[in-house]
Amino acid sequence: MRVEQHLEARVRQTIQEALGVDADPLLRPTKDPALGDYQLNAAFALAKSQKSSPRQIAERIAQALQGAPEFASVEVAGGGFINLRLSEEWMGEVLAQMLGDQRLGVPLVSRPERIVVDYSGPNIAKQMHVGHLRSTILGHAIISLLRFIGHEVIGDNHLGDWGTQFGILIAALREFRGGDSSGLDISGLEALYRDGTRKASEDPAFAERARLELARLQQGDAENRALWERFVALTRAEIEPIYERLGVRFDLWLGESFYQPMLGPTVQMLLERGIAREDEGAVCVFFNEWKERLGEAAPGRLANHKEPLIVKKRDGAYLYSTTDIATVIYRSEELRANRALYVVDMRQSLHFEQVFAIAKRLGYPIELEHVGFGAVLDAEGKPLKTREGKAITLAALLDEAEKRAFEVMKSENIFEISVDEMALIARAVGIGAVKYADLKQNRLSDYVFDFDKLIDLKGNSGPYMQYAGARVRSIFRKGGIDPLGLRVKRVLLQSPEERSLGRVLLRFPEIIHRAAQAREPHQLTDHLYALSREFSLFFERCPVLRSEGATRDSRLALTALVGAQIQKGLELLGIEAVERM
Ligand code: ARG
Repeated sequence: MRVEQHLEARVRQTIQEALGVDADPLLRPTKDPALGDYQLNAAFALAKSQKSSPRQIAERIAQALQGAPEFASVEVAGGGFINLRLSEEWMGEVLAQMLGDQRLGVPLVSRPERIVVDYSGPNIAKQMHVGHLRSTILGHAIISLLRFIGHEVIGDNHLGDWGTQFGILIAALREFRGGDSSGLDISGLEALYRDGTRKASEDPAFAERARLELARLQQGDAENRALWERFVALTRAEIEPIYERLGVRFDLWLGESFYQPMLGPTVQMLLERGIAREDEGAVCVFFNEWKERLGEAAPGRLANHKEPLIVKKRDGAYLYSTTDIATVIYRSEELRANRALYVVDMRQSLHFEQVFAIAKRLGYPIELEHVGFGAVLDAEGKPLKTREGKAITLAALLDEAEKRAFEVMKSENIFEISVDEMALIARAVGIGAVKYADLKQNRLSDYVFDFDKLIDLKGNSGPYMQYAGARVRSIFRKGGIDPLGLRVKRVLLQSPEERSLGRVLLRFPEIIHRAAQAREPHQLTDHLYALSREFSLFFERCPVLRSEGATRDSRLALTALVGAQIQKGLELLGIEAVERM
């Protein structure tokens, strides 16, 4: 049960019965727990229409709420606030239901959607770097959350496998290696691209050759096509092991190249519908002309946007935007998705605004959302790079994280594990640390990547959560109890620590839905962190295995719920649980 949703509905209905109006109860968690668990602020807004004082309205609502099973007390305070205190009996019953439910009380959505999540999307011939890490990790967690609440999700890796870089690569291969691609690996490919880009800027004749090679590729020339396939294969061989390490699998790998046959017809349609027009031999979308040409202005800042969006260049080449427009059509028409999420760097927000405006104008029945995110910075606040000034590679970053996890575990060695086992666990801990560090951020902010804080066994970190989960499991191991078999009629919330812990546990279903709905995994990490802190306090004050009778059963139930929420939470975040560490 989503407790807040339930309470809101309950209060709403009560207001309806007492005052005959349908009003948002404005239910909020209280800042000061001494006042209660929730506050209702509706009386202020209602006072006017009811021609009464907020205080009187609040009293009528409070009166009507007396006797509701959810509340131990309902009190009017100040000018018209209502403070609600949840009843421990009611909380204890909801917690007992949660314990008996495989879904931990998390309901399914009433209207499941079919959603494409576009994430990761690295570019061929370039190493996958930390910018793509955020997309991959965030996308993966968002997909798990959406699936868990009942949506049908298709995860798609929109690989950057088409475009001008291939003309340069092929021309450079001929220039610097006599056209020989044998023995080429990803760093060779990168070097080729670097040298080619430099040469193209210095030597117009080379730049022209690169353009011709690209044109030949696009026209289906067999030799260039074979080279392209080789470049793609090389890059995939490089990135697949990284996805493997991250535990990420895509349902589809429809890169940019996949949409090439659809680009001509797409541009044709844009012209026919008057959305685009020719300009100096190119085909462009002038958003600032929409009002005049189409009768309705382009949305938001695009209405006055003077810079045209080119969808076909004078030389016939198509662009990133053209591909993305065709991609929307494919996702709507062929994949039958009713929503697509794009987990892509914030810096591309204008691009997506433009693509979405055009798609909407075309009338496809699909909701489009840019799920943007900020940059990953180094200690100086600059985009994270290695010492050589190259963007740090993802593989190097994961190696370092695993190494550090191993070192910290070795020095702490809480569970007294052998060095061999530790090396194995360090993988899950290192990767989990990197993921958690990313997911706990508000996704829109830039964040500083700090290796020293990554493996923090006390703070809000992946290893800390894995440790908390392992600790719970060790309690059950020690007691010889199977937490999955535990059932109670009602969890007893007698001491303040039990009550506080119960209060946090109750929020899980609500948090899962909110995190999924807002595409904000950090809401879940915040919950897990709050949970593990409450659990520590509880565990310090309330003996579990050493208590007796109904108290023992109830404390075991609380402990089992903590373990289950941590386990489910980590699973949804894509972080492996460990038995010991
Ligand atoms: N390849 C792009 C990049 O590295 C990301 C692709 C995002 N997805 C999309 N449909 N545009 O910037």
